[in-house]
Amino acid sequence: MRQVDRARAGQSFVGRWCAAGLGTVALVLASMVAAVGGAGAGSGTLPAADPARGMSARDAARFRAGEAIFHAEWQPAPNVSEGVDGLGPLYNAVSCAACHGGPAAANPADRFGGRLLRLSRPDGTPDPVYGLQLQDRAVPGHLAEGRIAINDEPSVVRLVDGREVQLDRPRPAIADPAYGSPAADLALSLRVPPPLDGLGFVAAIAAADIRALADPDDKDGDGISGRVGEAVDPTTGEAVLARFGWKASVATLAQQTAEALHLDMGISSLRLAQHGGDCTPAQRDCLAAPSGASAAAGGAEISDTEIGLLVAYLEGLEPPSNLVLITHPPEAAGERAFAASGCHGCHWTGFTTSQTTMKPHRARQGVRLFSDLLLHDMGEGLADNRPEGSASGSEWRTAPLWGLSRRLARIAYGSLPGLLHDGRARTIEEAILWHGGEAARARDAYAALSQADRDNLLAFLAGL
Ligand code: HEC
Ligand code: HEC
Repeated sequence: MRQVDRARAGQSFVGRWCAAGLGTVALVLASMVAAVGGAGAGSGTLPAADPARGMSARDAARFRAGEAIFHAEWQPAPNVSEGVDGLGPLYNAVSCAACHGGPAAANPADRFGGRLLRLSRPDGTPDPVYGLQLQDRAVPGHLAEGRIAINDEPSVVRLVDGREVQLDRPRPAIADPAYGSPAADLALSLRVPPPLDGLGFVAAIAAADIRALADPDDKDGDGISGRVGEAVDPTTGEAVLARFGWKASVATLAQQTAEALHLDMGISSLRLAQHGGDCTPAQRDCLAAPSGASAAAGGAEISDTEIGLLVAYLEGLEPPSNLVLITHPPEAAGERAFAASGCHGCHWTGFTTSQTTMKPHRARQGVRLFSDLLLHDMGEGLADNRPEGSASGSEWRTAPLWGLSRRLARIAYGSLPGLLHDGRARTIEEAILWHGGEAARARDAYAALSQADRDNLLAFLAGL
């Protein structure tokens, strides 16, 4: 929003998101969508998200307000629309929902399905020209950095019973680079959006419970070590446990949200203050572009209050229905095969939320996440050779398997390219066969199962 507009809207700006009943929010959204036309990937439709059971009326109102911001389509600055300008100049999508919003919001014609390309020097520091992420879109008058190009490298794995499975490893590259040839040693890492369901439960697990599972020196000799991801707390400068992101490099939902706004949408906040998002000193036009900063947002393009509402939305998202009892015999047999293959060693189901969480209705609940939230060395096949946070180029956070059925539905619909961090696996079986490093033993145990046990295991996972 331009300075003057924001001043005129004054305090009512935040009040508009908070106090608005859904009807008002829908109206506001409708005007944003009308103003932006068909420029973005989002559809502007309101979702049918369910706030988690037991929310207070205040939390439910904050959830709805956050949901509206999650779906809001940001626009280039300056713009007459209130409160949602400051997009870019370089960006990837106009709203959070464009990448995370499920089938209704995604565009199945876009085979990249919310995929991002993270970039850096080989040591993880930003590339001096292209920054930390390839922005494949730009507002009018600016040049998008380039396009993601993918070359699939095929290989064949043979299971113990002789059956062959083809695996394709996507090798990403930058096509049509607009700011000069990228450095020859530029490190590239392709990422798909993880599911956001139940993140409030993930946030409510005590850090000590995650640390307790780590076994960095593999003292128990099961071949699985597991290290805690760490990030630097921007306010204290101290190392804190990080549990979010494919490489467990982000400590809190607020930080993850600020980073998404900064890198994916070019929107500044008090946490990441550069109005031009990921643009670098080499991209002078980008740095000099008008911003959507305002006094009401503390000199940024989005206020801390609004980030708080986005976090309230993320925290309120229902977990996948993971409490359903498994009564079908094949799936029960599948769960046994899962355990017998050693999958539980990382895909951990024993967490409970902390007793001291800020949300009383969340305290001491079981979280059947199927993840220990730790980093594991997954071998060369999955390595992106790009360190991030405390993770090495071959370490990844155990992917939670709860809600796998929803991810499979998105893959079938075409709005998610596939499983694993870069979406390379078209099926659960392909995802398992890509496991290496600390998970090589479990992968081999899977490959040695009888056809019936394999089918049961896959049916069990597909039902999560
Ligand atoms: C252009 C696509 C895109 C947009 C837009 C986007 N995200 Fe994401 N999001 C991703 C990808 C890809 C990841 C995985 C990043 C990683 O860990 O490497 C991710 C990760 C996340 C995570 C971490 C989930 C977990 O399990 O650890 C959260 C939370 C999140 N995004 C929230 C948001 C919010 C809130 C917004 C809007 C402010 C947003 N995202 C905008 C693509 C997107
Ligand atoms: C050593 C730890 C470890 C073990 C053991 C392990 N996994 Fe994983 N699993 C991971 C990690 C880490 C990822 C994410 C890897 C990536 O995206 O590159 C993952 C990803 C997955 C995925 C993809 C999920 C998604 O949403 O993309 C599936 C499915 C899966 N594992 C199933 C299994 C099964 C079945 C077993 C047992 C045969 C198993 N895993 C054993 C660590 C492990």
